[in-house]
Amino acid sequence: MASSPSFLPLICCLFLFSASMASAQLTANFYSQTCPTAMSIIRGAVSTAISRERRMGASLLRLHFHDCFVNGCDASVLLDDSATITGEKTARPNVNSIRGFEVVDTIKSQLERACPGVVSCADLLTVAARDATVALGGQTWNVVLGRRDSTTASLAAANSDLPSPFLDLPQLISEFGNKGFSPQEMVALTGAHEIGQARCGVFKERIYNETNIDPSFALAMQRNCPRTGGDGNLAPLDSTTPTVFDNAFFRNLVNRRGLLHSDQQIYSGGSTNAQVDRYRLNSAAFFTDFGNAMVKMGNLSPLTGTNGQIRTNCRRPN
Ligand code: HEM
Ligand SMILES: *[C@@H]1O[C@H](CO)[C@@H](O)[C@H](O)[C@H]1NC(C)=O
Repeated sequence: MASSPSFLPLICCLFLFSASMASAQLTANFYSQTCPTAMSIIRGAVSTAISRERRMGASLLRLHFHDCFVNGCDASVLLDDSATITGEKTARPNVNSIRGFEVVDTIKSQLERACPGVVSCADLLTVAARDATVALGGQTWNVVLGRRDSTTASLAAANSDLPSPFLDLPQLISEFGNKGFSPQEMVALTGAHEIGQARCGVFKERIYNETNIDPSFALAMQRNCPRTGGDGNLAPLDSTTPTVFDNAFFRNLVNRRGLLHSDQQIYSGGSTNAQVDRYRLNSAAFFTDFGNAMVKMGNLSPLTGTNGQIRTNCRRPN
């Protein structure tokens, strides 16, 4: 059908239209000619990493988020500090918290061996986030690719643009709104907390001083998170099925068993309660919305065409 001459003007206009959108140059088959094994290399390496440590799936998913929310999905989060670059790894939301860099290095060196200088670190993070979600039981979504890597990072943007766990619902809505996400998409994305861990220091205030919390859950959490000290002690974001990407996180919220203040905010009597109820009862609805919101997150200001570069080492510009 596409080869029929009568469709050419339509195809032409669709192309011009899509070329004006930010994600225009990201495509599903970006590496199918230049690195046909890229997808299976990433999937295999993610699966190996997760079989060594299930939490790594969560850590990889979070890296993509912390990349995309800070000046777009350009792998800036992966840059190490150097004489010429101040990276994002010491930003408040990242320091002693984001992880998975060694796994990214491993995947990148496998990609470089197969197809030198072809697959970007930003696309690596995009695919790894999807594959990690699927490996832990989530539903797949179609990624679009063609992002390129930055040569710079922004510590200031990492400090200002990543949401804090101490925010209330209106602030969460507004911070995600600043990135173009609806409140519904914000709730779906928060469902990433289906998996992974948080440090005592970020949920201490909640388990000792908040009232919108199940008392027995608060007591259980206090056992490994003392009032003073122990700030690095870990607890699962989803205490029911910590390493399975299902919809238990939303059932926990309804039982006032959200670990982070920000998580419980999306079920605290406000405008997002009904959506949490929907996801709690219908995991398919959550999975679909999560996948769509992840694709949208992956489209945040990518570098494409001749902008940026394909780093050979994700930790530093070429
Ligand atoms: C709604 C606003 C959000 C806030 C305030 C927030 C905050 C946090 C905090 C404080 C932690 C624990 C970090 C630590 O103690 O080391 C965490 C972990 C995590 N976050 Fe979020 N987050 C948000 C949204 C998201 C989104 C949109 C994603 C991904 C799409 C995500 C993925 C994760 C994952 C997977 C973990 C666990 C990481 C691991 O175990 O290594 N978060 N988040
Ligand atoms: C809880 O509130 C009390 C009284 O306001 C305060 O002294 C304490 O630092 C707060 N945080 C924790 C973790 O107990």
